[in-house]
Amino acid sequence: MSDTSGPEQTRKPDAVAHADIVPMVWFSCALAALAGLLFGMDIGVISGALPFIKQEFHLSTAMEGWIVSSMMVGAAVGAFFAGGISQRFGRRKALLYSSLLFFIGALVAVVATSTAILVVARILLGLAVGVASFTAPLYLSEIAPERIRGTTISFYQLMVTVGILAAFVSNLAFSYIESWRWMFGVLMIPAGMLFAGVLMVPNSPRWLATRDRFDDARNVLNRLRSSREEIDYEMREIRESIEQKEQSRGWGMFKENANFRRSVLLGVSLQIVQQFTGMNAIMYFAPQIFQASGFEGTAAQLWSTVATGLVNVLATFIAIGFVDRLGRKPILYAGFTIMAVSMAVLATILHIGPDTSALQYTAMGAVLVFVAGFAMSAGPLIWTLCAEIQPLRGRDFGISASTVSNWVGNWIVGQFFPLMLVGIGGTMTFGILAALNLLFIVFTFMLIPETKGISLEKIEKNLMGGKALRDIGT
Ligand code: BGC
Repeated sequence: MSDTSGPEQTRKPDAVAHADIVPMVWFSCALAALAGLLFGMDIGVISGALPFIKQEFHLSTAMEGWIVSSMMVGAAVGAFFAGGISQRFGRRKALLYSSLLFFIGALVAVVATSTAILVVARILLGLAVGVASFTAPLYLSEIAPERIRGTTISFYQLMVTVGILAAFVSNLAFSYIESWRWMFGVLMIPAGMLFAGVLMVPNSPRWLATRDRFDDARNVLNRLRSSREEIDYEMREIRESIEQKEQSRGWGMFKENANFRRSVLLGVSLQIVQQFTGMNAIMYFAPQIFQASGFEGTAAQLWSTVATGLVNVLATFIAIGFVDRLGRKPILYAGFTIMAVSMAVLATILHIGPDTSALQYTAMGAVLVFVAGFAMSAGPLIWTLCAEIQPLRGRDFGISASTVSNWVGNWIVGQFFPLMLVGIGGTMTFGILAALNLLFIVFTFMLIPETKGISLEKIEKNLMGGKALRDIGT
């Protein structure tokens, strides 16, 4: 997600702009996307496992919240330290550590004999996903040639949704033998694949250069780029951006520069908004929501959950197709409106009582429409915006801050949603989510810039020149 290309952008020769993309780039991108898959599977696994865990350990509502949300606490901590880890040890090693932690976390969950051990397993899985959710997009953006860099961010989100769907499907399969342990066990497969794969990909040339290993950086570019001209151009760009970075960055820049503080706070708010749409309430508790909507039996609930996962994947293509044509803001307006209306419909049905099958299917339809609304808008676009609004020198810090807030927001939803459902009931809970989504339409209008078709350097100039946040894309 970080874009470390030089801000001055020495004019790019045609041969560089249109150079072939070598297979090694696709391979390395596919691997980073595999981290997205793990991210998604980690999110998706719990909704199917929870009903069985509840049966085995007789969970209280608070403990249920903890089992769901301890992963997010781990992820927030992981994302917080990810910047330091991937700077110190490199993006590749950070991904390697993260896949190891994933593997261990899944293994601990498989053999957990108590809820305390399960919470430990969830925290380990969380630490892994926190590091991965920062590092993988960063690595992607650092190895991908500029002209496919934007696409890789949406592609990464697509992999997150595929991971969620894969977990929903495996949850369904293992529900027939009632084994929540194997639902976690399958996480070891992509974790092992990521580990083996990362061993085969090169270090990030940009990271190598920040460690003064310019020769190594050039060697890596030899493997990732198709022409001498391209390599020379990019090495020049990397040197320029490193000189820039030497000024002041991260926390120092945050303390000194009020304009940078604005973009960091915008990034943090964007991710909180993404989480408070309530998407993960559906991702984590879908079977329970379907139960409240009148669907009896675990299998029926899990099948409906698979449908939500599928809609999530498919609707992401809408964003991929339209984000650079219609722009970010129109899509966000549409998405928040769809989410507000569908939550209001769900709240109303729960108020009336889903007594007829017509009402039950309308409730299910409302959930699916909500998921589509999120996946076509806030899902991918918030990540894109968070990467676009940060100035070059503060990009690692800015993205790390917004990624941490994504997980903190995620934690709040995971922790409090079940309590709200029990405490104030479904009607009120979904009513509040509807109201929040309405509010986000206003937030989009007031604060979000339109960044379609504008260079990162122009956005940075506008931000640093003190323009209002909503205008930094014009
Ligand atoms: C969010 C996750 C969410 C996923 C759903 C991502 O953009 O950050 O919290 O679970 O989308 O597809």
